[in-house]
Amino acid sequence: MTSPLILGLESSCDDTASALVRGQEVLASVVLGQSDLHAEFGGVVPEIAARAHAERLDGAIKQALDEAETSLNDIDAIAVTAGPGLIGGVVSGVMMAKGLATGLNKPLIGVNHLAGHALTPRLTDGLDYPYLMLLVSGGHCQFLIVRGPQDFTRLGGTIDDAPGEAFDKTARLLGLSQPGGPSVEAAAQGGDETRFRFPRPLLDRLGCDMSFSGLKTALLRQRDQLIDEKGGLTEQDRKDVCASFQAAVRDVLVEKTRRAISAYLDETPASPALAVAGGVAANMTLRAGLQDLCAETGLRFTAPPLRLCTDNAAMIAYAGSELFARGKRDDMSLSARPRWPL
Ligand code: KG4
Ligand code: ZN
Repeated sequence: MTSPLILGLESSCDDTASALVRGQEVLASVVLGQSDLHAEFGGVVPEIAARAHAERLDGAIKQALDEAETSLNDIDAIAVTAGPGLIGGVVSGVMMAKGLATGLNKPLIGVNHLAGHALTPRLTDGLDYPYLMLLVSGGHCQFLIVRGPQDFTRLGGTIDDAPGEAFDKTARLLGLSQPGGPSVEAAAQGGDETRFRFPRPLLDRLGCDMSFSGLKTALLRQRDQLIDEKGGLTEQDRKDVCASFQAAVRDVLVEKTRRAISAYLDETPASPALAVAGGVAANMTLRAGLQDLCAETGLRFTAPPLRLCTDNAAMIAYAGSELFARGKRDDMSLSARPRWPL
């Protein structure tokens, strides 16, 4: 029996995305970014994002249908991000999904955006439940034991900034381009990560909670000290600051992952695995640290390809397909939720 064909829609931040997924096969995944619209404001403007989603969702769906060489009539269900996220954008997606579900008389499934990220390793690598997930992006940072499409245990997370935000702020302080992650990582090449000792907050505290806001204060102080001492930063100073910052983020994440692994292994999973997802999972220094840790602790390590790590609709369609298989259906009372903890 062929798996159902699921249309996924995602519009919770600044990417308008549509995808068609059948089982573990991604037939099409369209992501229309909006960074050009928000660039001059230095961050995502919710009203601009919401309007762009409303204008572009239609085109994103058409493009996905064309790429998959299929039509709306062939779809078995519509899965849509119903939160958490910027409410105007989530509403745009939910309204579009409700319109399609009514017009086509197809089932509607509301999906938690974080569940979408968390289930991606099942789509890409077929991981068995339960696995451990580190979700690290511009808006999120948490450890989850993933037991099922609606069954998660949160082991801890950031108590202030997300690591992606820290990378973005670091780039801003050093005059590097946005998004900060890739530009800080590139600048760190050839840098000396031991030159500056940036803080590793909360390592002295038990558990998996993390903090990244102190890091940017330390970085600001270090930058200003270099400016005071020699009137500015040399190219090498900038490389060393970036490498030292990146090493501090890696050390905190790797050490806290060690603790999360220990809590997870207490449950004696049959095929122990750690998956990392979210935009910061693209960072090679972090990946190397996590990979070494998994080798040491006997876990399989997986990181989905970047296009499925960052915001996309294939993950929403896939999460929708698991929920669909378990009989989950929503009706016209499905509401858009700005907050929706797993
Ligand atoms: O998952 P994502 O695309 O969006 C959400 O935040 O939901 O993540 C974007 C974040 C940005 O803060 C960006 O700077 C960071 O991921 N990022 C990276 C790298 N590539 C993207 N951080 C560190 N190293 C990278 N190579
Ligand atoms: Zn996301």
